[in-house]
Amino acid sequence: MIILSIETSCDETAVAIVEFKNGGAKVLANIVSSQVKMHSKFGGVVPSLASRMHLKNITSILERAFRNAKISKKKIDYVAVTNGPGLIPALMVGVGAAKALAYGLGKPLIGIHHIEGHIYANWLKKSDAKNNKLWEAEFPILCLTVSGGHTQIILMKKDLNYKVLGETLDDAVGEAFDKVAKLLELGYPGGPIIEKMAKQGDEEKIKFPRPMMNSGDYNFSFSGLKTAVLYEVQSCRDAASMRLYNDQYKQDVVASFQKAAFDVLVSKTIKAAQKHKVKNIVLGGGVSANKKLQKVLAEAIKSDLPLCGFSFPTSKLTSDNALMIAIAAYKYVEKNKGIKNWKSVKADANLKLR
Ligand code: KG4
Ligand code: ZN
Repeated sequence: MIILSIETSCDETAVAIVEFKNGGAKVLANIVSSQVKMHSKFGGVVPSLASRMHLKNITSILERAFRNAKISKKKIDYVAVTNGPGLIPALMVGVGAAKALAYGLGKPLIGIHHIEGHIYANWLKKSDAKNNKLWEAEFPILCLTVSGGHTQIILMKKDLNYKVLGETLDDAVGEAFDKVAKLLELGYPGGPIIEKMAKQGDEEKIKFPRPMMNSGDYNFSFSGLKTAVLYEVQSCRDAASMRLYNDQYKQDVVASFQKAAFDVLVSKTIKAAQKHKVKNIVLGGGVSANKKLQKVLAEAIKSDLPLCGFSFPTSKLTSDNALMIAIAAYKYVEKNKGIKNWKSVKADANLKLR
């Protein structure tokens, strides 16, 4: 069975073609065209520009995907697309293209929630073209999804079954990384830059708050942490003769910020995993690329939940891509759920996970 998938919820135009056979996935094409260079000039994603770029590129990326896959369009069995959440002008391009393809090919269309794509990125342990066996995961699973738009703790009792136990009440953790990088004038996107710089810094140097760490629920708040970084940096700049606003100082700031953010993420994830006696913890979303987060979470699981498994996506599948959307769509086909006519799938910027 061959699935063609499209992802355009933010600033990557992505198309994948994947053949699923005997519990394995053969990646025939996996193209991600990033607009990050263009948006970095503005310090963040500009929705109207993102949409214009998706529109400009989507047809040629689809053509390239078919060329890479070396299959005719007729071989496609299902079309899948991220239909939310995300930037509506960006989502509409992918959904429009997917509808046109499903209509033209006379094939069913499957709408996928962006976050369930990030979760199912964990089911493919290698993102290459071989026939990789998909993960036969043991449930219940606890997911920590951390991206530029989301920070959620989700309980899965079985495939495609989601209960959001907690989420951010304001900024997403990736957004906090991007904003901290912006106020220190480090560039965009902030996450990878901060991760690299933090390696040279002292994470104990500045005592930033751990917002909502002991709130007794699984919600998060990162806006106060970002403001604490702003006040710290402002006070250092105001007292320039007293303290030095130099590279070492910035490295200490980002290392201390990163530690504060990860302490909260790890602490809440462990508490939720203990409460729900999960068999596995999975990490997903752009921030899951962070090796330090992977390490501190792995260490906490080893010490507090030694029998619990831990998974994070392969490096190519942490950020937005269409391959993860194809894997989630395959799960829908397996369960005979969510398979729709092209007319019934709509882009929804605020789509809820259910
Ligand atoms: O999932 P993603 O590619 O797009 C959204 O769905 O939002 O996530 C992008 C976010 C950005 O905020 C980016 O700064 C963050 O993921 N990110 C990281 C790292 N790589 C990307 N954050 C921390 N450390 C990283 N290495
Ligand atoms: Zn994402």
